[in-house]
Amino acid sequence: MWELVQETVSFIKAKTNFTPEYGVILGSGLGNFTDDIQIEYTLPYSEIPNFPVSTVEGHKGALVFGSIGDKKVVAMQGRFHYYEGYSMQEVTFPVRVMKYLGVQKLIVSNASGGVNPNYKVGDIVLIKDHINMVPEHPLRGKNDERFGPRFVNMSEPYSKKMIAQAKELAQKNNIEVKDGIYLGLQGPTFETLAEYKMVKILGADCVGMSTVPEVIVACHMDLETFGVSVITDMGDEESIETVSHEEVLEAARNAEPKVRKLIKELILNY
Ligand code: HPA
Repeated sequence: MWELVQETVSFIKAKTNFTPEYGVILGSGLGNFTDDIQIEYTLPYSEIPNFPVSTVEGHKGALVFGSIGDKKVVAMQGRFHYYEGYSMQEVTFPVRVMKYLGVQKLIVSNASGGVNPNYKVGDIVLIKDHINMVPEHPLRGKNDERFGPRFVNMSEPYSKKMIAQAKELAQKNNIEVKDGIYLGLQGPTFETLAEYKMVKILGADCVGMSTVPEVIVACHMDLETFGVSVITDMGDEESIETVSHEEVLEAARNAEPKVRKLIKELILNY
């Protein structure tokens, strides 16, 4: 893995000498965040050695390098999901690459189903913790100490400082935000009613099919991480809805301007 990561990093560095400080992973319907970036260089995943290629509708596949104000960022337009058939090493490979391109802070976004009765469709949730229920672990196997320790401290996977700053910026910009715990499942099925109930009983506020493996690997490499989720459907017993991928994308798109603004402000001010 180390050699593969270094090979990919060398390839990218030969294409652009841009050193990003922030890495951003754009989730469902949030891909247009790249419009806020003064783009220096775009590299399609298909041209990057060792990179998997995204297969889900609504997910573009490219690394976008550029600036937001005086901050340098690399954005992943499209991510890899375990349910697509990739191994956990593939799903999290780009996070490792971003680290060795120079990234110190990671911002991840996703769409999720809400089980907290105080949530509604379109809500923006700052992820304060997660529960890993994905059936394979990205750090299973021999540990490479060059990346990080065998036993990873997960006491603060989402930076409290970044959350506090984001809350302040949200208030300043009249963006309503909530916070909550995200539970990661494999998918690709949405949850049954009994499963949404389970998610709630387990202590989570929302549920989705991404993010958790990426954040675990970010913790492994000691990246400071911020996560934001858009509630695209409700699985709470009182407000249960049927859900389709189209509805998820539409709800995410509707919240997109606010999420974009929030992430942009955080990058500019943190
Ligand atoms: N469940 C799982 N993943 C999701 C959901 C959901 O309800 N909504 C968006 N992604």
